[in-house]
Amino acid sequence: MSNKPKVPVAVLISGRGSNMGALIAASLDSAFPAKIVSVISDKPDAKGLEHARGFGIEAVAIPRSDYDTKAAHEAAVNAVIAASGAQIIALAGYMRLLSSDFVQRYSGRMINIHPSLLPAFPGLATHSRALAAGCRVHGCTVHFVTEAMDEGPIIEQEAVRVAHDDTPETLGQRVLEAEHRIYPKALAMLARGDVRMSGDGRTRFEG
Ligand code: GAR
Repeated sequence: MSNKPKVPVAVLISGRGSNMGALIAASLDSAFPAKIVSVISDKPDAKGLEHARGFGIEAVAIPRSDYDTKAAHEAAVNAVIAASGAQIIALAGYMRLLSSDFVQRYSGRMINIHPSLLPAFPGLATHSRALAAGCRVHGCTVHFVTEAMDEGPIIEQEAVRVAHDDTPETLGQRVLEAEHRIYPKALAMLARGDVRMSGDGRTRFEG
């Protein structure tokens, strides 16, 4: 067991929150170097909020519709993050484009999970697009968040073989299982300082 204090993490979600659940589950291990201190959703009905509360984690909805501007909404999200003491921000199905200001504030400390092997298939409907393209291999990626959506230096990936009879649903289910493996792994790497984003926007692996 490590004597180092766990690094506090805020998780941003918009829905189901299964990746958030994987991060919480991993963080329950005393040897895991991070702990989830706050969960924030832009959707009040996000299932992940209740799940997080079940673990005694602060989980708050900050709906975009409650604010006149994107800047005011992000200021409210920032306030909750700051009050929680989070040092790392993990986006877990947070389906909202973040402003340049927000991204800069957490540069090198904010990570995202995406259901494709980036740089292939940024954006939505990644599983059907991978099938339509005839990919034999698909997968998922954890990366540092930069201003371009679903870009940014890659921390971890896992490949998933595509079966001849896969549908977007069957393929997506296996990719999701891979997401649940690599997201805790990537978060642990960042929290331990085993990985960082360098000034030239590349991933540096330490040690
Ligand atoms: C996950 O598949 C995640 O990779 C994806 O949303 C899903 C959220 O599921 N994120 C993106 O597409 C980001 N561009 P979850 O709420 O069960 O974690």
